[in-house]
Amino acid sequence: MPIVIKLLEGTQGLGVVLADTKKAATSVLEAFNGLKARVIVQEFIEESDGADIRAFVVDGKVVGAMKRQGKKGEFRSNLHRGGSSQVIELSEVEEKAAIRSAKALNLGIAGVDMLQSSRGPLVLEVNSSPGLEGIENATHLDIADEIIKYIERNKR
Ligand SMILES: Nc1ncnc2c1ncn2[C@@H]1O[C@H](COP(=O)(O)OP(=O)(O)O)[C@@H](O)[C@H]1O
Ligand SMILES: [Mg+2]
Repeated sequence: MPIVIKLLEGTQGLGVVLADTKKAATSVLEAFNGLKARVIVQEFIEESDGADIRAFVVDGKVVGAMKRQGKKGEFRSNLHRGGSSQVIELSEVEEKAAIRSAKALNLGIAGVDMLQSSRGPLVLEVNSSPGLEGIENATHLDIADEIIKYIERNKR
């Protein structure tokens, strides 16, 4: 404890619950089970401090990365939940983790979300159709251009 309970169908941070006690966790799981919702239970990574990182991978390379920070008192960094983003330079381990994640899922384009934990980057989720607005605003990079070039390189 605490643990994080997530609805598998959730997006934008809705359906991500932080349960502080075993009692709270049991109640939440009972409620979700009653609704026949599918959930996953995760260790809570406290040291990521309400932030996560998004690495945008195109054709086996990280073409841009940002750090998203949840608003004060919020453990979820989603921009839709009031979080803010800034450009960051990934460490070598983070960059490798992002590239390996995209490769493992056989994705030419991927948005890889990671938590910065005391034991290194932990991959949270990999998006196969990541949005461009957040990453382009944070990095001031033309990510769409990278995607178009990738498509052009692979046209038959
Ligand atoms: N296990 C965890 N430990 C700490 N923070 C977490 C954990 N899981 C999610 N978060 C925070 O909550 C946010 C939303 O969770 P996520 O799994 O990405 O759900 P969604 O698909 O709704 O965005 C993450 O971006 C991160 O900031
Ligand atoms: Mg997310």
